[in-house]
Amino acid sequence: MKILVVYYSMYGHIHLMAEAIAEGAKSVSGATVEMRRAPETLSPEILEKMGALEAQKSFNHVPVCTVAELGTADAVIFGTPTRYGNMCGQMRQFLDATGQLWVSGALVGKAGSVFTSSATQHGGQESTILSFHTTLLHLGMVIVGLPYSFQGQMTMDEITGGSPYGASTIAGGKGERMPSINELDAARFQGRHVAAIAAKLSA
Ligand SMILES: Cc1cc2nc3c(=O)[nH]c(=O)nc-3n(C[C@H](O)[C@H](O)[C@H](O)COP(=O)(O)O)c2cc1C
Repeated sequence: MKILVVYYSMYGHIHLMAEAIAEGAKSVSGATVEMRRAPETLSPEILEKMGALEAQKSFNHVPVCTVAELGTADAVIFGTPTRYGNMCGQMRQFLDATGQLWVSGALVGKAGSVFTSSATQHGGQESTILSFHTTLLHLGMVIVGLPYSFQGQMTMDEITGGSPYGASTIAGGKGERMPSINELDAARFQGRHVAAIAAKLSA
C-alpha cells in the first residue's frame, strides 16, 4: 500500500508538517510512504526576492512529484500553504495537469486528504482545505479529514491549528512560528488515519 505525501512549501512550515504526516502514515502496518514536492513555478530570482531560497535548501532534496506517480498511489495526502484562502499556485498548476488521471479514473475510490498552513490564525485554513477537496472529489477520491478523536483540536489552552478538515499550522506574519507539538501531533494523527483507511479501501 503506497501512500504519497505531496506538498509545496515556500518557507518550511508545510515541509515540517509533511514529515509528521509521513511519520504517522508509516506507523500503519503494510504502508510504504513517499514524500514528494509539487513542481516549482517561480524563478530562482523571484524566490530569492521572496526570501525563500535559503529555507528551501533544507528540503529541496525531496523529489518532485510526477502526475504518473500520483496515479500509482493508494492514497495521497496533499499539503499546501494558503494563498488568499486557497491552495498555492504551484499545487494548482500541478493538479491542473492531472487530466489523464481524470480520464482513466486512476484516483477513483482512493483516499485523499489535505493539510495546510497560513500566516494568521483566521487567514483561510478551512477555506483552503475545503476548496482543495473540490478537486479531489472531481478526481473521485474519498475525502479523509482529521476526526475529533484527535483530541488536540479541542484544546483551549493554546493557539493552535487543526480542524475536522485537516491538520494545519499557523506560521506568523513573518513565518517566525514553527509548527507546535500539538499541530505536529495532529499531522501524525492524520497520516495514520489516512493510511488506516487506505488499507481498508484497498483490502
Ligand atoms: C501570495 C501569498 C498569499 C498569502 N495568503 C495568505 C492568506 O490568505 N492568509 C494567511 O494567513 N496567510 C497567507 N499567506 C502566508 C502563507 O500562507 C505562509 O507564508 C505559509 O503558510 C507558510 O508555509 P510554508 O513555509 O510552508 O510556505 C500568503 C503568502 C503569500 C506569499
